[in-house]
Amino acid sequence: MSDSAPSVSSSPAGGTGPSRTLDLSLAPTPPMGWNNWNTTNDGPEFDEEMVLATADFFVSSGLKDAGYEYVNLDDCWALPERDEHGDLVPDPVRFPHGIKALADYVHSKGLKFGIYTSAGSHTCSPIGFPGALDHEEQDALLFASYEVDYLKYDNCHNEGRDAVQRYTRMRDALVATGRPIVYSICEWGQNDPWTWAKGVGHLWRTTGDISDNWASLLELTKQNMVLAEYAGPGHWNDPDMLEVGNGGMTDTEYRTHFGLWAIMAAPLLIGSDLRRVTPETMEILLNTEVIAVDQDPLGVQGAPIRSEGGLHVFVKPLADGSRAVALFNETDEAADISTSAAEVGLPEAASYEVRDLWAHTTEKSGGSLAENVPAHGTALYRVAAAG
Ligand code: GLA
Repeated sequence: MSDSAPSVSSSPAGGTGPSRTLDLSLAPTPPMGWNNWNTTNDGPEFDEEMVLATADFFVSSGLKDAGYEYVNLDDCWALPERDEHGDLVPDPVRFPHGIKALADYVHSKGLKFGIYTSAGSHTCSPIGFPGALDHEEQDALLFASYEVDYLKYDNCHNEGRDAVQRYTRMRDALVATGRPIVYSICEWGQNDPWTWAKGVGHLWRTTGDISDNWASLLELTKQNMVLAEYAGPGHWNDPDMLEVGNGGMTDTEYRTHFGLWAIMAAPLLIGSDLRRVTPETMEILLNTEVIAVDQDPLGVQGAPIRSEGGLHVFVKPLADGSRAVALFNETDEAADISTSAAEVGLPEAASYEVRDLWAHTTEKSGGSLAENVPAHGTALYRVAAAG
């Protein structure tokens, strides 16, 4: 992957000091894992027991084997005040054994561990936890001492200061620790990070926060689907974490969520409480054929080649020459959506193999692809020239 994931260096904000290089090969494909925020917000169930159980469940459920790797903490892991040395302090009620012990446990399962703070004076929670603005080097060193593998860096309380400088300064601080850390820029798309964040972070939010409802899913999809040209190995658009399994959408809508995130090469960070998920949720999250679309090594973000009246045809070229194709119906009625091998960019061939990634069946086609797609549904295929 390193061929297509070149390292990028640039001078830190202000132009002084050594230039730092972000290792883009740390995220050759979109990161996969879990984060507590979408299920806990700042509630008390975000605690050590939950994180340890999540790591255990990654292994026992097959999520780890399916490619999910990062177990990430979001906001509210620290106390509202730094200690006398200016260091962040883990909340002893939520995390009685501290953060390093959590990281060690997650690592002992062959998984990776992530943490969160904000490029501001405080994080986003109204409770008011300290952020890393003007503490970048100290906090990066603390995270490295915890042996974190991933940092989500939020945007609250940024004092109106320049985003490129704030995010670059943390990039430099992380690189200076010498520890490989995937760097997730959570700037909500406010300053068009897709135009400057390649080489600053490995992924950047393109949207505001997702909510567990259809309107939110649709809005974020539309914001992210026009940005395909900016994504690639080591530099991904991030339309926010998954809501699959949180209860606010139907399973049809959650399949659409997962399928569209996969075809858009989005990070797949599970946002549900894995101690309580249904078999239907697990079937979606463990669909390895859909995951393979997301994780395809070519690293192209799929995009709509046609959108008319709420009916969309998304195409993602894959490394083996085949195409992932999503027929997405955003409307409230079932609808016929069709395309063809030629339209999705496949070479002329006598026949095509059409793999249905939800039904796990393969059919032959002379070149046409048509489906009656339910309201809010997405048919998802992998199509290859058969000879
Ligand atoms: C912001 C981020 C969310 C989450 C919360 C935590 O809203 O965009 O993803 O991290 O902060 O407070």
